[in-house]
Amino acid sequence: MSINTEVRPADTAGIARAAELLRQGELVALPTETVYGIAADARNGEAVSKIFVAKGRPQDNPLIVHVTGPEMLHGLVSEVPERAQLLMAAFCPGPLTIIMPRGPEVAAECCAGLDTVGIRMPSHPVARAVIEASGCAFAAPSANLSGKPSPTNAQDVFTDMDGRLPLILDGGECDWGVESTVVSVVGEKPTLFRPGHITLEDLERALGEEVEVSKAILEKLPEGAVVRSPGMKYKHYAPKADVTLLDGTFEQFKAYVDAHAAEDPSCLCFTGEAEKLGVPCVEYGREGDGADQAKHIFRSLRALDEQGDAVVYARCPQKDGLSMAVYNRLIRAAAFRVIKL
Ligand code: TXA
Ligand code: MG
Repeated sequence: MSINTEVRPADTAGIARAAELLRQGELVALPTETVYGIAADARNGEAVSKIFVAKGRPQDNPLIVHVTGPEMLHGLVSEVPERAQLLMAAFCPGPLTIIMPRGPEVAAECCAGLDTVGIRMPSHPVARAVIEASGCAFAAPSANLSGKPSPTNAQDVFTDMDGRLPLILDGGECDWGVESTVVSVVGEKPTLFRPGHITLEDLERALGEEVEVSKAILEKLPEGAVVRSPGMKYKHYAPKADVTLLDGTFEQFKAYVDAHAAEDPSCLCFTGEAEKLGVPCVEYGREGDGADQAKHIFRSLRALDEQGDAVVYARCPQKDGLSMAVYNRLIRAAAFRVIKL
C-alpha cells in the first residue's frame, strides 16, 4: 500500500480539503489539543476500517468518536447518562473522553464489538473546524503506528504515516502532549480507564463522588486478566530502546547509572539534569511539573529512537495528579520495568 501523502497547513483551504476527504470516506491526520489523530467518518464502516490498516492496529481496540458538542450526540449514543452531563458541563470541549452506551449510527468497526462508545469533544480549533466543514463526527485514534509513541507534531505523524493516508494537516505542536483522559460512566461506578490532563481529582470534584481507578493504569495486569478498556493491555508508547524506570532521588539515579556504565546507557531525565549525568541524555520536562512532562514525553521517547539508544534509564515521575498520566505512559514505554532505588 502506498498512497501519496500530502502535508499542508491547517488553513481554510487545508480544512476544506480535509472535510472533502472525510466525506469521501478517506483518512485525514489532524491536530487536536492532546495529540495528532487519524480521522475517518464515524458512520462509515469502510472508512473506519482503513484506520486499523494505516496504524496496524489490533481490531479489538475500539476508537473514540469526536464531535463539537452535545448537539451532535443524537444517534451516536443511546443515552446520555447524568454523570456524562455533569462531566460535559465541567470539561467539554477539552481533553476528556466519556464512555457511554453506544447508539445505532456508530459504525460497528469503531466499537470492537462493545456496546459502548467513547465520545470526545476536542477544543482544538482545527479539529472543530474539520467537523463543522464536513458535518462528520469522526472516529480518531492517535496518529502513530500501533505501539509507537503518540505524535505531537505533523513531522512525527509523517514519519509514521507517509504512504498510508492522503492528507496530514499541520497545525503546529499540540498543547497538552498526552492523550485525553478516558472515563466510563457505564456501569455502577464511574471508572477512570486512562489518565490525562483532566485528573482523577478533577473528575471526582465534578461528579461529587469517588471514581474508581482501573488497575491497569498503574501496574501490569496478570496474563489473561479481563480489561474493560482494550487499549490498556497492549505494549505501548515503546521506543526501540530497553527503557527502565528508576524510582528514587536524583543522587540515587546518578549512582545507579554510574554503576551500570558498562552497559553504555543513556538517560531520560528531567530538565537541567543532562549535564550532571555525563552520558547521552534526553530531557522530558521539569521535575515535579506534570504539565511540562506531559507536553514533552512523547517527543522525548521518539528522540531516544532517533539517537539510536539501546539501554535507557529513566527518571520516575510522581504517580498522582497530572503526573499519573505521564507515569502511565512511561511504565508502558518501559514494558513495566520499574526499579525502586
Ligand atoms: O486524546 C485522544 O484521546 C486522542 C485524540 C486523537 O483524540 N485519541 C486517542 O485515541 O488517544 P486512541 O485510539 O489512541 O486511544 C483510545 C483509548 C484506547 O485505550 C481504547 O482502548 C479506549 O480509549 N477506548 C475507546 N473506546 C472505548 C470503549 N468503548 N470502552 C473502553 N475503552 C475504550
Ligand atoms: Mg493511541
